[in-house]
Amino acid sequence: MTKYIGILTSGGDSPGLNAAIRGVGKAALNHYGMHIIGFRDGFRGLMENRTMRLDSGELSGILTRGGTILGTSRDKPHRMPVGGKVRDMTDVIVGNYRDNHLDALVCLGGGGTQKNALRLKEKGLNVITLPKTIDNDVAMTDITFGFDTALGIATEAIDRLHSTAHSHHRIIVVEIMGHRAGWLALGAGVAGGADVILIPEIPYDVESVAEAIRERSRGGKPFSIVAVAEGAISMQDFLAQTAAQEKKGKSRDGRKNIDDDAPPTEIQYADHTLRLAKKLEQLTGLEARITILGHLQRGGTPSAMDRLLATRLGTACADFISKGTYGVMVAARGDGIKAVRLEDVAGKVKTVPPDHPWVESARRVGTSMGD
Ligand code: F6P
Repeated sequence: MTKYIGILTSGGDSPGLNAAIRGVGKAALNHYGMHIIGFRDGFRGLMENRTMRLDSGELSGILTRGGTILGTSRDKPHRMPVGGKVRDMTDVIVGNYRDNHLDALVCLGGGGTQKNALRLKEKGLNVITLPKTIDNDVAMTDITFGFDTALGIATEAIDRLHSTAHSHHRIIVVEIMGHRAGWLALGAGVAGGADVILIPEIPYDVESVAEAIRERSRGGKPFSIVAVAEGAISMQDFLAQTAAQEKKGKSRDGRKNIDDDAPPTEIQYADHTLRLAKKLEQLTGLEARITILGHLQRGGTPSAMDRLLATRLGTACADFISKGTYGVMVAARGDGIKAVRLEDVAGKVKTVPPDHPWVESARRVGTSMGD
């Protein structure tokens, strides 16, 4: 029996999404003889039944394209703004799945998407997901597609900032995305040779950061690059937030305003970065500048590694569908691929262990982690 599968991309876009759509689509069409239908703009498009034909023509020529040909949104089935109100549209989504005679729905997304997919699974839909995000913070997979491209972009930015920081004897604080995880800042910081790397998992002491910079100045290097993850937090703020949350009876850790359904705004992050740069200027006597890489890290052509990963995961996804394996995320594990239960992924975040080998390596080359 011919299978009908739907596919959508949800959450922030990331390089490699089109490569994954192509991987799922080409394998489904050509190898397994399935029919595939795209839904536009994530769960919103599924709710509004806005579809896109995905035949060989549409799937051709997209491997190297950034973004997603399907469009995306951060809308969630159970909390969707409709007609000026936030409504639970899950039943409408389930209805559209049935009306399109789907045998399976493929959801390409990050942590939030895994949770939404699990909710749909619990409503009886055959859901299967792929892990995408530049943040690399999805649990149960070694890596997510989008991360490698963003890592390259952020590393190149640090490389370029080095020469100008050096010429002007300045501190440059470069803010790197990652939501509440430090993978991107840590990876780019190590690869780009940042002098200080600040990540959410290791709350920092601004005095210790300043001392690392002063030490460099005393050693004849009166310039420094500080790679700061957007979710980085000082020990002082961390303790204050932990205390405030304990007072409210919440057991969460002390990181600021970090609800995975609603990422803090860029302005909140930028405010922290600006305050950090000003404080470092004051404590070191060096001039400081900030650079916010922002959405540059999500745009453009995916790297070869991301194309490869997205193609591997996408084609494996079609294979799992052909075997009737649903309710899982297709994860990268070592050289292989594994289907992991959505229950084991949803609601979890893969953060950087403070003793991770990348952290150890950073410390060994003399990089300050700010603690
Ligand atoms: O999750 C990917 C990501 O780029 C995060 O690193 C960042 O915090 C967030 O999305 C930004 O979201 P938006 O594009 O909605 O501003």
